[in-house]
Amino acid sequence: MCGIVGVVCDENCQDYIFEGLKLVQYRGYDSVGICQKNGEQLKIDKTKGLIDKLITKTTPLPGAKVAIGHTRWATHGAVSEENAHPIEGKNKEWVVVHNGIIENYQQLMCDLQKEGEVFKTQTDTEAIALLLSLNNFDSPIKNMIWAIKHLKGSYAICAVKKQEENCIYAAKYKSPLYAFCNDEIAMLASDPICFPEGDYYKLEDGELCVAKKGNIVFYNMRGEEIQKTKQRFQKIRAMADKGDYQHFMLKEIYETPEALKRVAKNFLNVDFGAIKKLKFKNVKLIGCGTAYHSCLMGAAYFRKYLKIDAEAIFASELRYDDYVIGPHTLCIFISQSGETADTIAALEKAKAKKAKIISFTNVPYSTIASLSQIVLPISAGPEIAVASTKAYSCQVAGLYLLTQALKSEKHFYKAIKQVSELAQTTEKFFVNMADFAQDIAQKQKIYFIGKGSDYITALEAALKLKEISYINCWALPAGELKHGTLSLIESKTPVIVISTNKSVHEKVMNSALEAKSRGAKLYLISYKPPQICELENFEFCLSLPKAPQPLLCILAILPMQLLSYNVSLIKGYDPDKPRNLAKSVTVE
Ligand code: G6P
Repeated sequence: MCGIVGVVCDENCQDYIFEGLKLVQYRGYDSVGICQKNGEQLKIDKTKGLIDKLITKTTPLPGAKVAIGHTRWATHGAVSEENAHPIEGKNKEWVVVHNGIIENYQQLMCDLQKEGEVFKTQTDTEAIALLLSLNNFDSPIKNMIWAIKHLKGSYAICAVKKQEENCIYAAKYKSPLYAFCNDEIAMLASDPICFPEGDYYKLEDGELCVAKKGNIVFYNMRGEEIQKTKQRFQKIRAMADKGDYQHFMLKEIYETPEALKRVAKNFLNVDFGAIKKLKFKNVKLIGCGTAYHSCLMGAAYFRKYLKIDAEAIFASELRYDDYVIGPHTLCIFISQSGETADTIAALEKAKAKKAKIISFTNVPYSTIASLSQIVLPISAGPEIAVASTKAYSCQVAGLYLLTQALKSEKHFYKAIKQVSELAQTTEKFFVNMADFAQDIAQKQKIYFIGKGSDYITALEAALKLKEISYINCWALPAGELKHGTLSLIESKTPVIVISTNKSVHEKVMNSALEAKSRGAKLYLISYKPPQICELENFEFCLSLPKAPQPLLCILAILPMQLLSYNVSLIKGYDPDKPRNLAKSVTVE
């Protein structure tokens, strides 16, 4: 996984790379590097850490007219300067940046070592750089084709060749790659947000190209030139600016009301007739991470309001398990980025089984959107922080609207009104969680419990907190506490209790008190204020504003997101860029 950018232009090519790398940082940010090229002169700079460090370190190569850059999320080899890209082949003849995973890398390494090649890094990418240098074909594109024929796995590659004129050679298979050119510039990138305004090309699997200033020529794997049509640019993930906020995460939490209003507005334009025509008997909702939690919520809505057999599946599990999927299955793929590799692979599997495919994504030009029969807009606007916040709330609201639309027109319009009102309620519900966070930040482990949809909120709250505070968090259905986990409850173990459903409130309280009896400290997020006699059971109580029961989960997650943010700050971490994670996970 990683983000790549390449540019061919007359001057300041390093600036285009730095700007582009900032925009694709959501794909990984453990190390970063750039190679500038002027004729046969190549200058490589790389570093552990973030782009600003690279910018400080890099001096321009005079006259450079080509550059390739890379922001890494380590898959093969430790996070180190040497393993950062660009990676050079023998004698720096070829220099490469790569996004993806070369699955037969061990075999290639053995074969190349037998040929006398020496690996200087622990990366799979070095095998590509070395393969490129092995032959002296009459045209470098032939080196590219020859090299990538040896690769198994996924790759988007940008490469420069020392002895060739100022151009970039690129290839794509199962990792995204886009191209742009006008009279002044040619660019390649993992995401078209890196490009200036204007139309762009989307490379398909098995396609290659040579990018020169003002001209990009595309090839197939037989080395034949191919014609491609440009795509219209819908710039939705522009580099949002933090404004007065200290972090994107906080800004994005505060953008929830606006985002919910957009969901209500955009769902008015959805063609639900087309969805009804799909004629399905059961529903699978598929996603990863936070999106998987939306899937759980969506499945519950389908079961409750439409009495349809619906289940949520982790995309990474669907890939290799024997879920029963066929022409009567509606598969809804949920993905903020639309680029998550596991979700894409699961979608392809469902498609092969002739399931009906809907995607629910925040990026209309994404791979997942392009593979779907129907695309629903998440409408969250740009989400930059790794921990998903407003996108989750929009996904849940959108799934509620979807099920109501499939129920009846009357239900749909009522739901639209409910979501719009919820947006207004959230505007006034940004609670100060600083004190609660001080308490929580000291803990080694935290449990979250709830029943039904509150268990799903507990899962999402636990994920949020662990993602950015690195505290061991665990969510479980309230009634399951006694079936094992209770043994972990000790004096002062924190248990955060979520209760938004009146019909099971007492049951949840019983489970919470069972934990308290074993020494737990209880914290309560509830649809109603606790009674005076209950108060002494809790260290902290927060009652939610009034809202329709199915949407209370959106209110309940807001303070949990703020709690996580505050805990992360107290512990001195960067909530926008948690260690070891990335916003968009484009490898398996
Ligand atoms: C990564 C992110 C999570 C996100 C998940 C799914 O793991 O760190 O925040 O929920 O990917 O991403 P998607 O773009 O498919 O919703």
